[in-house]
Amino acid sequence: MATPELVFHLRSMTRAIFFVTDEEDRFIVKLTDVLKAKFCERAWVYNAALGLIPIKNLVRDWSTRAHTIDGDTLGIHDTLIKIYKDDPKEQQNFYVITDPERWLGDAAVVRRVLNILHQGHQDNKTVKTLIFVGSRKVIPEKLSRYIEVVHDKGLQPEEIQRLVEDAATNLKTAVPKDAQGLFKGLTSYEAMMAISQSIIATKSDPVDPKRIEPSIIADFRKRQLKKTDLVQQIDTDSVNFNQVGGAARFKEWAAKTKACWTPEGRKFGLKPPKGVLCVGVWGCGKSLSVKAMGQAWGLPVVSLEMGKLRSSGVGESEANIYRAIRIIESAAPCIVWIDEAEKSLSGGASSAQSDAGTTSRTIGILSTWLQETTSPVCLAMTANSLKTLPVEFVNRMDERFFFDMPSEADRVDILKIHLEKVGQNAEDFDLARLAEASKLMVGREMEQAIGAAMVESYTQKKAGLDEDILATELARKPRIVKTMVDEVKEVLDWVGYDPDADDGVRARFAGKPDGKGGTLKLIAGDG
Ligand SMILES: Nc1ncnc2c1ncn2[C@@H]1O[C@H](COP(=O)(O)OP(=O)(O)OP(=O)(O)O)[C@@H](O)[C@H]1O
Ligand SMILES: [Mg+2]
Repeated sequence: MATPELVFHLRSMTRAIFFVTDEEDRFIVKLTDVLKAKFCERAWVYNAALGLIPIKNLVRDWSTRAHTIDGDTLGIHDTLIKIYKDDPKEQQNFYVITDPERWLGDAAVVRRVLNILHQGHQDNKTVKTLIFVGSRKVIPEKLSRYIEVVHDKGLQPEEIQRLVEDAATNLKTAVPKDAQGLFKGLTSYEAMMAISQSIIATKSDPVDPKRIEPSIIADFRKRQLKKTDLVQQIDTDSVNFNQVGGAARFKEWAAKTKACWTPEGRKFGLKPPKGVLCVGVWGCGKSLSVKAMGQAWGLPVVSLEMGKLRSSGVGESEANIYRAIRIIESAAPCIVWIDEAEKSLSGGASSAQSDAGTTSRTIGILSTWLQETTSPVCLAMTANSLKTLPVEFVNRMDERFFFDMPSEADRVDILKIHLEKVGQNAEDFDLARLAEASKLMVGREMEQAIGAAMVESYTQKKAGLDEDILATELARKPRIVKTMVDEVKEVLDWVGYDPDADDGVRARFAGKPDGKGGTLKLIAGDG
């Protein structure tokens, strides 16, 4: 929860707060905590089923089940009139309004809220704090200047610790080691569910029955990940670096960096990279390499599609990015993958005009989180161009790799991989000849040419894939890169090339540039 922020606003007598959370009940409990007994006497909650009732009655009601109703204030209008008429007697009153999504779309409600705010502003003896608590931020223009927004940041480490300790005491079982890491990113509701699943699953264990078993909690977190469509877990089981042709330097780096994620490496003092950028032309294996990297590191790859987070509902996009972050934290250690980053992270600058700043705010939230999070997550961005990528993201990447067009040697590698994939024996082919025929092709085009040659060989009733047919297909296929000279130039300019180091300046070559500045130079016309 964002307790310090909340306390700050309550103390500084902010007249209206909007707290965005998926856990209203936890918020209510937190608020009673923060207000302490003394101020709880001056706090009420409006709940459409119960009316405007003292906060302590609501909390008590959870166990007494009395369902005490205030019949005069069941409606929001009666409630706001009551709040308006209340006299805090030179003290501060607090009013929590639940379900603000339901009410704030109504102009008459907004009017009443404004009246209360104006009252407090003009008469400094009337101190009333309105606290809206909802799962997404919906603040009409007229109220926006009055309301401070606080987003629930999820359970904080010490809150997790307390929650798990309380649960363990109640269940007469031990607190697991690293409870804070184990339950990170789960809501309190989910954490309790995970604990009770673990207790049930280990019920008849002969050695240690009814325990909080870390592996069961970890499984629970994995399942949470599958339940959401805000982020997507990428299946990397069938991908590995043997399926990536070329990219020798990238592979070498990934193999070495694996150590940063191991307990031994961490003990030694290694820190996992916070971000990797893979930039390069269409179809040359960037996405494939990110998946293989996940496989090599033994980490889940979680794909974050900014487009999916964007929502037309007011305040929904921001709530979504916070939710996505929470889910990612619960999946950590993991790789967060933003594919086509130049598209999904673009629009930040023009966002003020196009969508009232929503895009730039969501990008800002993501960027701040990446900077501040202590969770072991590595952001992997793949992009074709850098033009529209926010600089703050590019600069924050620990490693930047440039995926060049495959060199002749890389093409031999790629041919081998894809020939084997369609059940051919690569040794039966003159790979040097085929590599020559596939000049200026990217991996994706070579894979497609092999597919086409397979069909053609079958049609012509050949015994297997025919080398001549394949050579023709490879030579004949149009090269996409030829149509992208400008984009290619732009990326090359950004990457730069230092002949002494035989490497790029702003990004390292993922493959080997062979002392000549790489294959793409040919296209750009200065190689
Ligand atoms: N270096 C390579 N080695 C083996 N296969 C490759 C290579 N590059 C591309 N391919 C083949 O082409 C397919 C597409 O590659 P991938 O999706 O990784 O390209 P990309 O660089 O991410 O392209 P885009 O810029 O369009 O996103 C891969 O699934 C793979 O089958
Ligand atoms: Mg890709």
